[in-house]
Amino acid sequence: MAKIPPAFLQKIKEAVNILEIIGEHVVLRKSGANYSGLCPFHAERTPSFSVSEQKQLYHCYGCKRGGDLFTFVMEIFGIGFPEAIEELAERARLQLPTEWAKSQSESSANPEIERQRSAQREKHALAYKLNRFSASYFHHMLPQSPHIETYFKSRGTNPELIRNFYLGAAPAQWDALAKHLTSKKAPLALAAELGLIKPSQKKPGEHFDLFRNRAIFPIIDLRGKVAGFGGRALPLPEGAPEVGSESPKYLNSPDSLLFQKNRLVFGLYQAQKHIREKDEVILVEGYFDVLALHAAGFQNAVAVCGTALSPEHLSVFKKFASRIVVLFDSDQAGISATDRAMETGLEHGLVLYGAELPKGLDPDEVLFDQATGLEKPEGHNQMRTILTQAKPWLDFRIETEASNAKANPEAKSQAVKQIAKWLNQFHDPIGRAIREHTAQKLLEVPLAVLEKAMGSKNKSASRPPTLTHPKRPPPPSQLSKREKVLLSALALTIGNESTNPFFGKIFKLFAETRANLPPEKTLVDLFESPACLQFVQRWSGEPHLVEELKKAPELVIQSDLDPQIRSILTEAWISIHPQEGAPPIEEIELALKQSLARTWARFSQQIRKAIEDAETNQNMKLQQNLMKEYLDVQRKMKELSKFYDQA
Ligand code: UTP
Ligand code: MN
Repeated sequence: MAKIPPAFLQKIKEAVNILEIIGEHVVLRKSGANYSGLCPFHAERTPSFSVSEQKQLYHCYGCKRGGDLFTFVMEIFGIGFPEAIEELAERARLQLPTEWAKSQSESSANPEIERQRSAQREKHALAYKLNRFSASYFHHMLPQSPHIETYFKSRGTNPELIRNFYLGAAPAQWDALAKHLTSKKAPLALAAELGLIKPSQKKPGEHFDLFRNRAIFPIIDLRGKVAGFGGRALPLPEGAPEVGSESPKYLNSPDSLLFQKNRLVFGLYQAQKHIREKDEVILVEGYFDVLALHAAGFQNAVAVCGTALSPEHLSVFKKFASRIVVLFDSDQAGISATDRAMETGLEHGLVLYGAELPKGLDPDEVLFDQATGLEKPEGHNQMRTILTQAKPWLDFRIETEASNAKANPEAKSQAVKQIAKWLNQFHDPIGRAIREHTAQKLLEVPLAVLEKAMGSKNKSASRPPTLTHPKRPPPPSQLSKREKVLLSALALTIGNESTNPFFGKIFKLFAETRANLPPEKTLVDLFESPACLQFVQRWSGEPHLVEELKKAPELVIQSDLDPQIRSILTEAWISIHPQEGAPPIEEIELALKQSLARTWARFSQQIRKAIEDAETNQNMKLQQNLMKEYLDVQRKMKELSKFYDQA
């Protein structure tokens, strides 16, 4: 792969603020000179994740991940450096350096497989581009479609939401988008594959739009890419001709290479950081419910896209929060849908929470006056109460079933069977055993009856299929404590004023050590692991680099740096108070002393080896000189150890 010119990386860093990117994934709060929030890389309830806008670095004091803009994008999306560069370049609207872009599509061992892979990649990239292009078209059509814009307004959608969710309008025409794509020479076959347009039966070669006269909701994936669309049918504007789009009320993109309704979640991109912050997902049925909740300050709300809650959805939610609250309509359809969601949860060992809305209302109607589009004054409080009163739905349903059971023996028999069915579905042996106990009491039947209804299944100790995504492993750990302390101390000396008493001490210790090194050795020789040596050598080799470093140490953070070294550096450089990111001075002193002793020991070994060589070669003169030097070294080592023992 061709090397990316450092100047281009610099250009990206100038164009994209790390605070903005991280801010899309983490709720950041100003904390002194830095920002802090809950780490997106490991589960935590108190913030240990720091971001420095000035240095454009991040560091987590909990999981020790740290780095710059590029490493953040790589780690949060689980992609490689080249992909991260592409992602950021696109965002900054910078053209990739041509020779690099070209080299991306070459290379690899098997040219045929590589060719197919790269064709696939290109197709995906092009498809996303088409979707984004279309989303942008719909978004820009909104001000030009007054009846749709008014509709959004009438439902309480404010300009900030319109921007944040990139809402749009599909004009009341048969082929507005198709024409637009054609005029821009977009690949129509691909647009048809994505379901944006359809080939016309009547006029071969022509296309018409899937979304006509609809309010448009782009469905954005976790990487911030437009995967598909939802659209709500609207009344035609006065006097406009039919466009055959009054039903269904809601229409979604068909499944395609980008859009899978079992996996995608409307609003998740915008909600993710709030979900993590509140450790709770609110799942609603409708797109407008999501907008209403976000507008009213419940920004952890999402909706699945016109489909039932799937195991894939659940595993996505589990990545962000431990509590899932289902907030569906309170009608019979809503309760059945909540039951189905609960059952999917049970199969994966999860008990979902269910919140009950006032009869006949959906979340949107609780929060917004449907006649005026204005937020109801009591709506927010009412919604908060509804959400805090959410209960583990399984327990609630066991209670309601048990209370139905009181009517007559047949009702009781039905209830026993229903509850037994749920318990059988529940892939958590402990949770199931506890419910078996309570259900049996509530139903007022002997345990044997419930167990009979559960059949043989309840005896099999079923294990829940694992939904939780394994967290990325911590950075490889092969540095010794001594080297870590040393590197940390060295990092602290860069770009810091020696007038600060703490740094002054570190400077003094390094100066002392340097003066006591074996002849012709430098501070680099204090390090031993290949990773450290490689890094420190690169760093110390060129004096001009050191000067640069002193001005902006954060620039040495690079994606190809060993993650553990990266972590030590970001910790040293992001910490505001001198002692915060630094090892105690005694540890630094000890590490330097040990390192110095090891450097001398290696040096003395070298001489011993040279003496042996001289002996083999029968070079008596050299041997004598070396012996003398060896004794000097031994004396020096003794002196040093005395000196350090006194100190
Ligand atoms: P509802 O029909 O309950 O409507 O659909 P709603 O959200 O209250 O709609 P408004 O308030 O009249 O605009 C709930 C959700 O079910 C899916 C959509 O995701 C919708 O938001 N749905 C509904 C479809 O996918 N297709 C349909 O035809 C209807
Ligand atoms: Mn509604």
